[in-house]
Amino acid sequence: MVCITGFLLTLMNTQANQSCSEFIKDRTLLTLTKRTINKSNDIQLAYTRKIFMKTSYPIVISQPYKINNEGICRRVPKITCIVMVHTSLNHFERRRNMREMFNSTYYSPNIIRVIFLMGLTNNSTLQTMIEYESLVNQDIVQGYFMDTYHNLTNKGVMGLKWITDHCRNAEFVAKIDDDVFMNFHRIFERLKLIKDRRKYLVCNRINANSNFIQRGINDKWYVHRDDFRGFEYYPFTSCSGLTVFISIDLVPLLYKAALISPFFWVDDFYLFGILPAKIPGVIHYGINEHVSLNHRRTFNCFSKYKDKCELFVGITDPDNNRKIRIWDEIGK
Ligand SMILES: *[C@@H]1O[C@H](CO)[C@@H](O)[C@H](O)[C@H]1NC(C)=O
Ligand SMILES: *[C@@H]1O[C@H](CO)[C@@H](O)[C@H](O)[C@H]1NC(C)=O
Ligand SMILES: *[C@@H]1O[C@H](CO)[C@@H](O)[C@H](O)[C@H]1NC(C)=O
Ligand SMILES: *[C@@H]1O[C@H](CO)[C@@H](O)[C@H](O)[C@H]1NC(C)=O
Ligand SMILES: *[C@@H]1O[C@H](CO)[C@@H](O)[C@H](O)[C@H]1NC(C)=O
Ligand SMILES: *[C@@H]1O[C@H](CO)[C@@H](O)[C@H](O)[C@H]1NC(C)=O
Repeated sequence: MVCITGFLLTLMNTQANQSCSEFIKDRTLLTLTKRTINKSNDIQLAYTRKIFMKTSYPIVISQPYKINNEGICRRVPKITCIVMVHTSLNHFERRRNMREMFNSTYYSPNIIRVIFLMGLTNNSTLQTMIEYESLVNQDIVQGYFMDTYHNLTNKGVMGLKWITDHCRNAEFVAKIDDDVFMNFHRIFERLKLIKDRRKYLVCNRINANSNFIQRGINDKWYVHRDDFRGFEYYPFTSCSGLTVFISIDLVPLLYKAALISPFFWVDDFYLFGILPAKIPGVIHYGINEHVSLNHRRTFNCFSKYKDKCELFVGITDPDNNRKIRIWDEIGK
């Protein structure tokens, strides 16, 4: 398998389905490896291992997908928007709602396609259910990494890779979480925001040096002191990840940037802060007033103000089943 680490391209004699991220940071091993390096035949292996121990990268894989539905974008020449949804394996209901919400027939002549991004599970019952769901809906992409909170960065990078490989005929991309309600009617009205733009991110913008890095071990977004050591605030402009629109030209560039950007678990900051910072000329266009980060506000706005609601997207309380009620009121 081929793992790309910084400037070094290394062929690894590992199982084809193993990902580079498994060569995860381990400082004990690092020291050990350093000590055993000498001018013997072992030097190549030792060098390789040392690189991996020092820095791990998000999934960079030769056999990327356990489940792939690679034909999603192929059946039509042009797609208006490909939506990649970060979802958890057991969120069957949320995916069902989203399939209805993003059903292309409501948005003609615009064409929407959706992929649901997942990782692996130990639970074989769940895995079987996912495989069945994929068979029926043909919109699931599952990668070789455990589907855990701290692995969301892998999920995002997988989405970038998938679109780079299989969906370049989309006009733009939306990355969303599966608890988001999105008013695509409104977004298509305001398409000039994103269409035909280059190197463009449209999102709830978070300015550089404004967002505090949480260092408390019990914090939700706890970051170890060795990561961004000495920084009090996140040093790059970035996006809240619940919804980010990405111009299509930027997707392969972001994916390429991921190959040389060490893994960092806070996925929003990795995908929309660290990666764009490696690409000259990326613009973060803020639509903060059109994004709700509060599910009550989302519900009130969409259900009470209908057409006058200023929101494009908002977080919902999905287990309250409100999303589908909003959809019933404004949708279709
Ligand atoms: C990886 O492949 C090996 C055989 O090549 C197989 O035994 C193993 O179950 C696979 N691992 C996963 C996570 O699918
Ligand atoms: C260097 O490698 C040789 C051959 O593998 C080994 O015998 C020797 O002990 C090694 N030296 C050190 C300092 O590790
Ligand atoms: C989309 O909506 C049409 C018309 O209501 C329906 O026939 C079709 O099954 C729907 N597709 C999906 C994927 O839900
Ligand atoms: C999956 O199973 C392995 C071995 O049984 C266990 O070590 C690991 O913690 C499990 N992972 C999760 C996410 O449950
Ligand atoms: C496996 O997944 C199924 C379906 O979500 C669930 O009902 C079951 O409780 C899970 N089993 C374990 C051991 O978590
Ligand atoms: C992320 O996925 C990799 C590959 O499956 C796994 O080894 C690692 O434990 C996962 N990390 C977390 C924090 O779950």
